[in-house]
Amino acid sequence: MKNLKKLLALTLAVLFVFSLTACVKDSDKTTVSEGKLTMATNATFPPYEYIEGNKVVGIDAEIAALIAKKLDLELEIKDTEFDSIIPGVQKNKYDIGMAGMTVTDERKQQVSFSSSYAKGVQVVIVTEDSKIKTTDDLKGKKIGVQQSTTGDIYASDDFGEDNVTRYGNGNMAVEALKAGKVDCVIIDNEPAKAYVAANKGLKILDTSYAEEEYAICINKNNKDLQKKIDKALKELIDDGSVQKIIDKYISADAE
Ligand code: ARG
Repeated sequence: MKNLKKLLALTLAVLFVFSLTACVKDSDKTTVSEGKLTMATNATFPPYEYIEGNKVVGIDAEIAALIAKKLDLELEIKDTEFDSIIPGVQKNKYDIGMAGMTVTDERKQQVSFSSSYAKGVQVVIVTEDSKIKTTDDLKGKKIGVQQSTTGDIYASDDFGEDNVTRYGNGNMAVEALKAGKVDCVIIDNEPAKAYVAANKGLKILDTSYAEEEYAICINKNNKDLQKKIDKALKELIDDGSVQKIIDKYISADAE
């Protein structure tokens, strides 16, 4: 009986230690040690990230590829929901998040950000015959957004959650606008241009809604990776590589 108790205690102890190491491993593991740089994105956001064939392409994918090359790592892109990027980076499920992601004070509490590599502007898409002429006309209107983006956060703050309808991605919000379910869509300017170009009868208001900076997010505890990414990104900005990629996807005269 005594032995049995001992055995039980020992088994429990072993199990406990195992589960503990499993936890530690899970939360501390990054794929960098295995020679990989795992980047989470949400590929519904042209020209920053979108699917072509079965590949994620776009400005972010190309900049990330150059960063990975500099760090001697193999880039692995994971396409996921926009609002699971930051939680995933916090859990070290992904090494970095790169998704035309705006730096905000709230997000800075959750993850670290690299220096900024591009600027974004929140704009308003309406139907061509819309009565909405400026952002002042948005009060009381039905606003469509991509869930958890800055468009969602600002619009909910300024016009009230009841007036904001959240969609899984920008495309779904634009479809809702076309179907008359919302009166406008607030979203970043470059995807907005792509959506308007791809859909008849839509336009972007001349007055912009908010200006912001895009950056790469990294786990707060991963200071080493943060430093390396910042260094690589700075080199790529300084030698013009980042601008070259941006120019490839965004023509200046279309601004
Ligand atoms: N810039 C906005 C934000 O950070 C929208 C980003 C959405 N990105 C995407 N890949 N869907 O909230």
